[in-house]
Amino acid sequence: MSIQDEIKRLTAPDIRARKGREPIVCLTSYHAHTARLVDKYCDVILVGDSLGMVMHGFESTIPVTLDMMILQGHAVMRGSKRALVVIDMPFGSYEASKEQAFLSAARVLKETGCGAIKVEGGRRMAETIAFLTARGVPVMGHVGLTPQAINTIGSFRAQGREEADWGPIEEDAKAVAEAGAFAMVIEAVAEPLGRRITGQVAIPTIGIGASPACDGQILVLEDMLGLSPRVPKFVKRYSDLGPSIEKAVKDYADDVRARGFPGPEHVYGMKGKAR
Ligand code: KIV
Repeated sequence: MSIQDEIKRLTAPDIRARKGREPIVCLTSYHAHTARLVDKYCDVILVGDSLGMVMHGFESTIPVTLDMMILQGHAVMRGSKRALVVIDMPFGSYEASKEQAFLSAARVLKETGCGAIKVEGGRRMAETIAFLTARGVPVMGHVGLTPQAINTIGSFRAQGREEADWGPIEEDAKAVAEAGAFAMVIEAVAEPLGRRITGQVAIPTIGIGASPACDGQILVLEDMLGLSPRVPKFVKRYSDLGPSIEKAVKDYADDVRARGFPGPEHVYGMKGKAR
């Protein structure tokens, strides 16, 4: 392969430079095989701590560990070539101090080779974001609904539903941008607030249930594929894989029970490799 043929991965500065330009396409992925598919069409792949709920069936993202994120981050890096891979910092791995955040983030970058990390929180995380970016860690922020705060906020309800509640969320977004984040997720806020923040901050906003006016959008892959049993109201389903998988499993089970399952002749009769 010549140098010209090499596929260059997008970087945090490339995404930062997309502010107000071509929309930034983002999806989550936790596996090598889905990452390979997502990589063809997305600019950013987020290894979200939503994997705790989607892959492991936890009720929230709280139980997710740094080791879990690093393991799935490796898988996504192996499966992708072009997209910027961003890995979520899980609850408990960065909030105690900016030094704790740096040590955790350095592990993620060194052990996975990903291009950036994401932290939840606005003004309270500004000092940490500035500390990390000054030390070579590209940070994506996350404001609005921050699922790791579930035990203090009580539910995954949309934030800033009344105009009177917009001020603190706007302040959070500005603090994250001024601290040096290269982009920020805005989750589950009133549409006019998502639009307003996008117009106010100098870095790209990535909406999830926020506003089509955001500089980019993100969804949890399994939610938009119709694989998740419960999805937020704002999720558009682009496929309905749950029933298709169930039908395939049922057909297989029927085959096996009827002893119609392909026997050895289907494998040994084949020329070349079985796979
Ligand atoms: O964990 C996650 O998947 C996320 C996205 C929903 C933005 O943070």
